[in-house]
Parts: sequence; structure tokens; C-alpha cells
Amino acid sequence: MKVLGIETSCDETAVAVVEDGNKILVNLVASQAKVHEQFGGVYPEVASRHHVDQLVPLVEMAIKDHEVDLIAVANGPGLMGALLMGVIGAKSLSYGWEKPLVGVNHVEAHLYSAMMESPPVFPSLGVVVSGGHTFLAKMHGICDYEMIGTTVDDAVGEAFDKVAALLEFPYPGGPHIEKLALEGDENKYPFKAGTVKKRPLDFSFSGLKTNVLYTVKGANCDRKAPSIISEDDKKHIAASFQKAALTNIVNKSLAAAKTFNCKAIYCGGGVTLSKKLKELFEISPYPVFYPPKGLSADNGAVIAGLG
Ligand code: KG4
Ligand code: ZN
Repeated sequence: MKVLGIETSCDETAVAVVEDGNKILVNLVASQAKVHEQFGGVYPEVASRHHVDQLVPLVEMAIKDHEVDLIAVANGPGLMGALLMGVIGAKSLSYGWEKPLVGVNHVEAHLYSAMMESPPVFPSLGVVVSGGHTFLAKMHGICDYEMIGTTVDDAVGEAFDKVAALLEFPYPGGPHIEKLALEGDENKYPFKAGTVKKRPLDFSFSGLKTNVLYTVKGANCDRKAPSIISEDDKKHIAASFQKAALTNIVNKSLAAAKTFNCKAIYCGGGVTLSKKLKELFEISPYPVFYPPKGLSADNGAVIAGLG
């Protein structure tokens, strides 16, 4: 079965054709990152308009050599206007081609990405670390999840983006922080991610972010205040923040995997691009799986595969 996958939940217009769930035949991504860089984050209306421009040319390119049997589209969660562009496009194709249409959860697709290369084992732990989501799920099977921990404020990728903005780096900030951190001392600042009362598997990154803000701009300063740190301090702050945020993810994941007798850990979402995250997970007694190359960030292939 050949499936056309459409993904427009945020700032990537992505279209793919996947055969039998995991054989990727076409995987096209038109990223808008450059367009949103100037805004320090994704500008929803601008994202929607770019999807309108990109979607049809990408679909035409994707189906050039393939007849598809089913259309799968990311139908949430995401930016409302942006999602609508993909869903309306997919509905129109489904109607015009007389092919069935299935809606796919964007976050479940992020988790599925780590399962595409080898058959998954269950029960296992799903770890979603992206710009919009951070959560832990106990997985009984594909599309059969129980949420066991989530963020009470920012997503971890969002925290990376906001800290990067404080250090005057453009969106998306994660890769900039990781690069800067290579030259920094990760033990220089004793940053710590938050804990949530009575919910040990939940995440909180807003206190950590505020701590970075006060370190960069002075106690009780707001985001517009001038920076009071040196270029070298920036490196140490990036390294210390990265260590605090990612150690928190790894520790909670390992605790959850132990509690729920998981056989493996599957990670999904843009933050899995972090080499530091993989390095920290090396202490795991459970096998840890990541998305294959090109499938960490938003893409249509995981939507088509899961669809
Ligand atoms: O999954 P994704 O493409 O979008 C959402 O569905 O949200 O994830 C994008 C996020 C951004 O916040 C970006 O800063 C983060 O992934 N990211 C990273 C790295 N590369 C991308 N965060 C930390 N370290 C990285 N190397
Ligand atoms: Zn995503």
C-alpha cells in the first residue's frame, strides 16, 4: 500500500510517499525556518500562507512516479490555520482522486518515527521531545498509549528556543545552543529544571528559563534589559542550561521505564537531533531508539507511515 503523507502543523510543509508503513519512496520538506527567523518564533498566519503556496507543487512532485492508495494528513496538534491548510488540501485530493483519507496525530507520528527501522517491542516508553511537546507515554502498541508525564509549562524545545533568543541566536535555537555548548563549561552554572508537586514524571522548564534570564540580564530583569555577560559566559550558560534540561529528560525517562517495566525507549521530536541527549542516554540499561536520519524534525514520511 502506497500512502501519501501531508504535514503542515507548524512551519514545515512536508509531503511524502511511503509504502507498507516504512519504505520511504519520496520525502519532501519545504522548511520555512528562514522566514520565521526574524520573528524569533513561528508566526502562525505567515506559516499558513506559505503552506498554501508550497502544498500543491510538493504533492505534484511527490506523486510524479507513484500512484497512491491512501492519503494521510496530520490533523493535530499544531497551529490551527497551518493544520487547516494540510487538512483541506488532503480532503480535496481525497475527493478528487476518490482515495480514502485518514487523519494522523502529529505527536504519535513523532514517536512512530523511532519504530520505522526495526519492529517495535512493547511495553515500552515513548519520549516526545519537540518544540511544542514534552511528554512520557507508556506504550502498549502502536497508537496504544497512556500518558504518564507531561510538561506543566514550556516544551523542552521551546525552552531551548527561548534561551537561544536570550543569547541572541535566531529560531530554531536548539542547534545554536548545542554548538555553543561545545566550548562551554557545563558545570559553571548550577541550573536545574523544575519539579512538579506529587507528579514526579511531569516536567517544568519555566523556572530554569527564568534563571537563565536573570543570569544573562541581572536579577529580576525583564527580557528587554541589556545583557550583562561576556561572550565566554554565553558558552558556559548554553552548556549549563543544556545539561540541566536534557539530564532532567533522561533521568525522568529512565525512572519511568523502570517503574513500568519497559523493554525499550522510543524517542521522537526535533530535540532528538541533540547529540548531547544521545550521549546522556548512553547510561540507559534499556535499548533507546531514535528517528532515522531526516525524520527527527517535522516531516510527511512519519505521517504517511503511521497512516
Ligand atoms: O519536532 P519539531 O521539528 O517541531 C515540533 O513539532 O515542535 O522540533 C523542533 C524543536 C525546536 O524547538 C528546536 O530548537 C529543537 O527541536 N531542536 C533542538 C536541536 N535541534 C532541534 N533542541 C536541542 N538540541 C538540538 N540539537
Ligand atoms: Zn513536530
